[in-house]
Amino acid sequence: MAGPVPELEDRARTCATRLCEADRVLLASHIDADGLTSAAIAAQALERAGIPFETVFEKQLDEDAVAAIAATDYETVLFTDFGSGQLDSIGDHEDAGEFTPVIADHHQPADRDTEFHLNPLLFGINGASELSGAGASYVLARALADVSDTDPEPSVAADRGTPTASGAANARADNRDLAALAVVGAVGDMQAAGGELHGANEGIVDEGVAAGVLETGKDLALYGKQTRPLPKLLEYATDVHIPGISNDENGALRFLDGLDLELKRDGEWRRWAGLTNEEKRTVASALVRRAVSSGVPATKIDGLVSTAYVLCEEPVGTELRDASEFSTLLNATARYERADVGLGVCLGDRDGALERARQLLREHRRNLSAGIDLVTSEGATQEEHVQWFHASDEIRETIVGIVAGMAMGNAGISRSKPIIAFAEKNDAEVKVSARGTHSLVRQGLDLSVVMGEASRTVGGDGGGHDVAAGATVPKGKEDAFVERADEIVGEQLS
Ligand code: C5P
Ligand code: C5P
Ligand code: C5P
Ligand code: ZN
Repeated sequence: MAGPVPELEDRARTCATRLCEADRVLLASHIDADGLTSAAIAAQALERAGIPFETVFEKQLDEDAVAAIAATDYETVLFTDFGSGQLDSIGDHEDAGEFTPVIADHHQPADRDTEFHLNPLLFGINGASELSGAGASYVLARALADVSDTDPEPSVAADRGTPTASGAANARADNRDLAALAVVGAVGDMQAAGGELHGANEGIVDEGVAAGVLETGKDLALYGKQTRPLPKLLEYATDVHIPGISNDENGALRFLDGLDLELKRDGEWRRWAGLTNEEKRTVASALVRRAVSSGVPATKIDGLVSTAYVLCEEPVGTELRDASEFSTLLNATARYERADVGLGVCLGDRDGALERARQLLREHRRNLSAGIDLVTSEGATQEEHVQWFHASDEIRETIVGIVAGMAMGNAGISRSKPIIAFAEKNDAEVKVSARGTHSLVRQGLDLSVVMGEASRTVGGDGGGHDVAAGATVPKGKEDAFVERADEIVGEQLS
């Protein structure tokens, strides 16, 4: 049977077969949206295949973390969303007979390889834009359903129950229902940059649609379509800056007031997801008219529309229904050391995880809003090609980048230069986050190169994506870092 990504099929089956031979498995994954969804996919696939397992999360899979895993008495370890880059140290433990690694990852592999290694980069597929860790885990999950001898009953169910019920049962039997989580992971890893998912990711989307767990379609490219009150949806919509609306609370309200639209129901602001199609068209065309009349160039206006990935089995108006809001909900748990809560949400709201995650999200939003106020009141220091601020210990290092991105466009923080944010990480190190705009990226900006090169100049390390990247540098090296980053950005944009 062909899997969702034919190039990976043979390797996926080899890995799945090895997992089926294990008495039990230690599942180790990365703490971000992609790592959480990877773990949730793998966990459900193992559970359905009847393989006992336990799950652990790591912020970074450094040598100590690998050693701690080796010290457990698990003989088989499944790494998801990391492992490829750490094959040096993993291989040492494997050679010592401590465990057999099975890896489903999409990061750049180290020089060493291993037998049960599933990674798109080994098969000519781009791991940054075409398949995420959750995607690799999904490919493995599909193979696991195929090679494990699970109860064949669900596939015969087609003769009984309703067509949809049997479709759902079939999707569960071959793990295609997990495609929705794979898409959340890909979106959380920014693989939909540019508006939609590509390459191997598309094959997964198609399976999710066929399985009835996903719907896709062109929609407004704004964050918060399910849960944000309409004025906040527009005010915070900054990927495409619309003068007089973006970052302008009163402006966004005035704009909505000027439309022939029922804005509140039962005293509450309505949300995009609750509008009728006609109401959506009313708002969207007024937005486009406003953008045109305020001189926003046509190429940017195109960016107002993108492909939405809707988890159509989740209730309307919840974070779980929109892949991008879902991934933010997961980050709100993982970035606060509560990966267990995020995993519970992915596994279908186990133990009240969703309510706990929403509390964490409220706290995350309060922190974001306090951070944005702080940055906006203090402004950013302007260099020739970049601007920067230092939050010291006033903004958590795990969210300073999100704050920086959301503050761009506010008073004193330009959208014509990338922004670099510093926050204290520990006594010796400073976290750096950088954010750009899609329009700067089109002009040549690549922040992953900037963060990587500038941090290595001062004895740190970094990387990420063109539009959003980060680094860790030794304390006291901030000025030297900014100086080098300014030079590199200048070269990229020249
Ligand atoms: O959480 P994450 O960092 O993946 O968020 C991606 C983008 O979504 C942010 O840069 C921000 O524009 C938006 N976001 C938001 N409100 C949140 C979380 C994220 O507007 N609470
Ligand atoms: O770990 P890494 O891939 O996950 O982080 C991606 C981050 O990039 C998101 O959490 C978000 O903060 C940021 N981002 C952004 N602006 C975008 C897209 C992503 O700031 N347009
Ligand atoms: O932490 P932040 O949200 O700023 O991270 C943005 C992107 O930069 C993420 O994709 C993250 O994985 C990457 N990053 C990195 N190396 C670091 C810090 C962040 O590659 N030291
Ligand atoms: Zn990932």
